[in-house]
Amino acid sequence: MSNRYVIILAAGKGTRMKSKLYKVLHPVAGKAMVDHVVTQVEKINPEVIETVIGHGAEKVQDLLGDRTKYALQSEQLGTAHAVQQAEDELGSKEGMTLIVNGDTPLFTAETFENLFNYHEEQKAAVTILTAHADNPFGYGRIIRDENNDVQAVVEQKDATPEQQDIREINTGVYCFDNKLLFDNLKNVKNDNAQGEYYLPDVVSILREQGKKIAAYQMDDLSESLGVNDRIALSNAEKLMRKRINEDHMREGVTIVDPESTYIDFGVKIGNDTVIEPGSKIFGNTTIGSDCLIGSGSRIENSVIEDNVQVISSTIEDAVMHNGSNVGPNSHLRPKAVLGEDVHVGNFCEIKNAEIGDRTKIGHLTYVGDATLGTDINVGCGVVFVNYDGVGKHHSNIGDHSFIGSNSNIVSPVNVSDHSFIAAGSTITNDVPFHSLAIARERQTNKEDFWDRLPVSKSEDWN
Ligand code: UD1
Ligand code: MG
Repeated sequence: MSNRYVIILAAGKGTRMKSKLYKVLHPVAGKAMVDHVVTQVEKINPEVIETVIGHGAEKVQDLLGDRTKYALQSEQLGTAHAVQQAEDELGSKEGMTLIVNGDTPLFTAETFENLFNYHEEQKAAVTILTAHADNPFGYGRIIRDENNDVQAVVEQKDATPEQQDIREINTGVYCFDNKLLFDNLKNVKNDNAQGEYYLPDVVSILREQGKKIAAYQMDDLSESLGVNDRIALSNAEKLMRKRINEDHMREGVTIVDPESTYIDFGVKIGNDTVIEPGSKIFGNTTIGSDCLIGSGSRIENSVIEDNVQVISSTIEDAVMHNGSNVGPNSHLRPKAVLGEDVHVGNFCEIKNAEIGDRTKIGHLTYVGDATLGTDINVGCGVVFVNYDGVGKHHSNIGDHSFIGSNSNIVSPVNVSDHSFIAAGSTITNDVPFHSLAIARERQTNKEDFWDRLPVSKSEDWN
């Protein structure tokens, strides 16, 4: 097997996207398009991966880091010119070079592998990856001669009406004999509708030299989708989402309605977990086995262990240990950590707080900047008053404590183990071990008072 090299073209601005964000950085299922390409290319272990950067060069480099080498194309004169920028790194090498655009996020490593193998079998100078498209608009068309051999690629803007009817398209992926590629790039001219140096022109140049041109037609045409505008971006997103959801289902995850379930690339989910319609699972998230992710939940950058239930709730940068549950309609914010079998019920918000095993926080409660021990019962409507307008303060609540409903914990305070806070208390001082804390005005009953109240004169109350 000869050496394998890969060049990724990612220097274009993406004018048709009408965006401040450079095209190849637009995310598809939570990951930049060019990152998808690199991820698949890495799987085939090439000798060198070289990314041609230009527009947004620094941002692309920041994203990909040392996963690839870089060549700078300071002026975008076309795809052939872009490849020429890789000459310093690759020009003198013997082997095969795969070229792929940074705006085609759906290609798989398997397709690249098949292309390399086919190219070697065919002993071709170049093998072009083609696909049949029902709507070929925008793609280069494959022109074949009477023997069905590939003659040339004609771009949309240069195509005659007859050529525009051709449904076989250039996917923008090629496998070249590396030497022949770099020897002939300089022969490409820019006398075309866009005044650009087109990489596919190398194909016709090689043909004129009598070299063998091969074409490899793909089974799955959806892989070849090139994203040039926002409509194609939404199509890519849809296809990627389908692929991701099907992968999870094959691994034993129940997705009740894949069409309405949005899971980012790279999210991990254990088997026998059930994901209900309308759920969104984003970023660097891991979900264990036997979980229930209820309708309309949104989970981002979080760790959810096994047997966890999330019911119509939002979880961001949080951790839920085994057997814990949350919802409906609650919000775990960054650095919320729920211990094992913790229960967080409805309309609660937890932020930067560790909740010990088996603690229950049932209703309408805010816990911010606190450490709660194990087996605590937090009543309804408890507020951790963590902010004094200047800084945030932290409180600690000991194991087996009971916080009565409608209490305020004015931070910073330490409530020791086995404390009982009476309902409606505003706790501003530490509470010692095994004590009852009551911090509220005593009740006064004014007897025989009704007749002195204005309501007593109203018909509604009599
Ligand atoms: C290109 C192909 C077309 C093919 C299609 C597949 C050419 C001339 N045309 O068209 O035959 O059907 O891809 O998706 O190659 N780029 C640079 N430098 C440049 C120009 C482009 O790095 O000077 C990069 C872009 O960032 C992009 C890729 O090359 O990632 C392709 O450029 P784009 O303008 O999208 O080409 P298409 O019109 O899609
Ligand atoms: Mg394109």
